[in-house]
Amino acid sequence: MSNEAKLELDGKVFTLPTVEGSEGEKAVDVSSLRANTNYITLDDGYGNTGSCISKVTFIDGDKGVLRYRGIPIEEMAEKSNFIETAFLIIYGDLPNRPQLKKFSNLLTANQFLHEDMKFHFEGFPTGAHPMAILSAMINAASCFDEGLMNWKWGKNTEFDVYVARLISQVRTIAAYSYRKSKGLPLIYPKQNYKYTANFLHMMFSMPYEDFEIKPEVVKALDLIFLLHADHEQNCSTSTVRMVASSQANLFASCAAGVCALWGPLHGGANQAVLEMLEDIHRSGDDGSKFITAAKDKNSGKKLMGFGHRVYKNHDPRATIIKKACDDVLAKLNISDPLLDIAKKLEEAALKDSYFVERKLYPNVDFYSGIIMRAIGIPMEMFTVIFAIGRMPGWIANYKEIMDEPKSRIYRPRQIYTGRTINNYVPLEARK
Ligand code: CMC
Repeated sequence: MSNEAKLELDGKVFTLPTVEGSEGEKAVDVSSLRANTNYITLDDGYGNTGSCISKVTFIDGDKGVLRYRGIPIEEMAEKSNFIETAFLIIYGDLPNRPQLKKFSNLLTANQFLHEDMKFHFEGFPTGAHPMAILSAMINAASCFDEGLMNWKWGKNTEFDVYVARLISQVRTIAAYSYRKSKGLPLIYPKQNYKYTANFLHMMFSMPYEDFEIKPEVVKALDLIFLLHADHEQNCSTSTVRMVASSQANLFASCAAGVCALWGPLHGGANQAVLEMLEDIHRSGDDGSKFITAAKDKNSGKKLMGFGHRVYKNHDPRATIIKKACDDVLAKLNISDPLLDIAKKLEEAALKDSYFVERKLYPNVDFYSGIIMRAIGIPMEMFTVIFAIGRMPGWIANYKEIMDEPKSRIYRPRQIYTGRTINNYVPLEARK
């Protein structure tokens, strides 16, 4: 079989090299196309464009496969935890005992924010969305770290510290963003708490009373972080790579990722799912009216938490999270009418030709909101939880850009369809 593609343009045949990934994914390498033919490729929304070569995460959307550094998501969800997963994603291998200890110590050593950052939190109005605070404060954190501002890529020991600082501090900033949005006093992390328990402590403890840390709640939240830890070239990760390609610092690049994640078509879908379920519940609909509206393009409604650019079979994260949702609700003895509506919507959609023909299945966000609600996470924090979880993936992709000696600034082209030459008209002469 030829490993070249032939393209006929304007009567001439051009050959283009092809590339094959380790899982047999194939691409036509068009990087020389414009230089040789004066044509570019056009792919609105990048649905058919490989923007990079990466070793971090593999997805087979037709089969519903997701693997972190080759390890199936189902195995990671069953046997690992978020911190070990973060190490795997960033450094490429599961950590041995000393590596894990060192990573964990670095996280603990870097969990406090500079005290002066508190004044910046004070500048946000009560009620501000925590995603806005999160992205602003991740960026602000880099100003409090002279080393980071002057840091040049290539000194690996410093990279390890900045990785730990970002993974640890995003959790502290996230909890403070919530406290600030509610006008509550800020709670410091505890030295002896593990990552996820500490987050719950900073979110919910009060100066006069520690929040009760329930193991099943920690387990459920840790699983949510783990399931979100990476997802190859999605909107936010591509944004991080785009910003990193200009050699912006790690914190600035990941703050940009937070902004990209916020929208309801991406990470913001988890909040949008819950808002949708609440609306359906309030209106007394059992879901059937909503399904009809979601199929009507003029209704302005979509079945949030359904569909995916890559998964055309099922989203394996959704399967894991649905089961975890049932488990945690049973353990906490919670019955939630929104869960019943969600299940009815899923059942109806999976039988409906509109969703079947378009291969629209529940994605990770469909059930994650219900678990978060059950364990007491406020709705406006759902996307923040996604951001904490996704940080290892953003960092690993940042590292790939920086480690690549031939890395170039990301700079797509366009097909211009605006006016052709159009001379300036002085103000007096304009109609
Ligand atoms: N409800 C109703 N119709 C839908 C939905 C939906 N949730 N998703 C896609 N469609 C329709 C869409 O209107 C189009 O129909 P037609 O072919 O008649 O024009 C067809 O299905 C193909 O959809 P698309 O919009 O071209 O797909 P996309 O790959 O551009 O968008 C998506 C993917 C996830 C943005 C989209 O499915 C969607 O908006 N879903 C709801 C939001 C959501 O749950 N987002 C979370 C994604 S998973 C978490 C993450 O990684 O970000």
